[in-house]
Amino acid sequence: MDNTQLEKLILASIDQRYQAHATRDLADYIFSNYLFQSFQPAFIGFIGRYGPDIVVYLADPGHVQALVDYCMRATKAYTYQRNQFINFTGFYDELLAAEYTRFFEQIREMLAQTTTIEGLTAATATVLQAHHERLRLVLSSYCVAAQPAKLNANPLLSTVPCEEYSAALQLRLLGLDPAALAEPILDIGCGASGALVTALRQQGYTAFGLDRLAPVGLAFFQQNWFEFDFGANRWGTIVAHQSFSTHFIHAHLHNSTSATQFARLTMQILGGLKPGGEFCYAPGLPFFEPHIESSREFAVAKTTIQAGNTLGIGEIFYAARVKKLSPT
Ligand SMILES: C[S@@+](CC[C@H](N)C(=O)[O-])C[C@H]1O[C@@H](n2cnc3c(N)ncnc32)[C@H](O)[C@@H]1O
Repeated sequence: MDNTQLEKLILASIDQRYQAHATRDLADYIFSNYLFQSFQPAFIGFIGRYGPDIVVYLADPGHVQALVDYCMRATKAYTYQRNQFINFTGFYDELLAAEYTRFFEQIREMLAQTTTIEGLTAATATVLQAHHERLRLVLSSYCVAAQPAKLNANPLLSTVPCEEYSAALQLRLLGLDPAALAEPILDIGCGASGALVTALRQQGYTAFGLDRLAPVGLAFFQQNWFEFDFGANRWGTIVAHQSFSTHFIHAHLHNSTSATQFARLTMQILGGLKPGGEFCYAPGLPFFEPHIESSREFAVAKTTIQAGNTLGIGEIFYAARVKKLSPT
């Protein structure tokens, strides 16, 4: 079998594993990790059949790197979809990359030595068990470090889904009329669908989306906003609906180190605006906007959103528009 076909089959079997665990949550991952520690018979059949081809495929470091990247992205998406306040970067990225690299090495060694279905069933179980134990350790360490609380009561293991909204609803809640927006427009936390960016582009506006789960495409930056270069005087309008500010509020309430990083990032975002440009976001940041206004470089306008308390954030549910004033 050629490499392209083989790669397709390997990726499909990786996707199947995530789908097989679609109904589980992060607490399952930590407290019932055994549920994740076996391969389905179809997968054992697949590696039994193509074992020698897979061994050759995995001997190429470029192939391994591509698989590691694919698994890291899938694992992060799986995790973020269950609790959007988790954010693996830096040190945790390195741990995940090292773990997946080790996993593929072990799979290759195992396949080079084992050929029978019984042998593969036993050997893959051993490799997979150790792999998931180590991943479990990475997630547990992250949760306890990010939000100091006992693991069995850690809020990061509860489910906090990440909803996405229609372009019309986002514009309405932000109080924006696209025709009045200066371009280029950047949507921070545009979501996996990038709905607002797509709608704006369909109407002829120059718009881009930034999200760690952004769709693939020229209009999107698939990046962590902490690692993005917002530039200087680059954007006419930056929007962030239920994304950046929601996460800043969460950090403000739970993790002062992370809140400091958000404060710094907010100033970088504002630095990325052109003179006269605006950063429009909801919900509001009542604990930080006074600091923004104190610089006199910016003016903040707020519009209360009539959403009752249905979204659970009550009185801070206003849309804010921070305007970078033109030098006089
Ligand atoms: C609640 S969704 C909102 C999506 C969209 N703005 C909407 O209103 O439909 C929040 C988005 O923020 C993104 N996000 C959260 N933390 C992020 C980070 N550190 N870097 C990039 N994107 C992030 C998530 O991936 C998610 O798509």
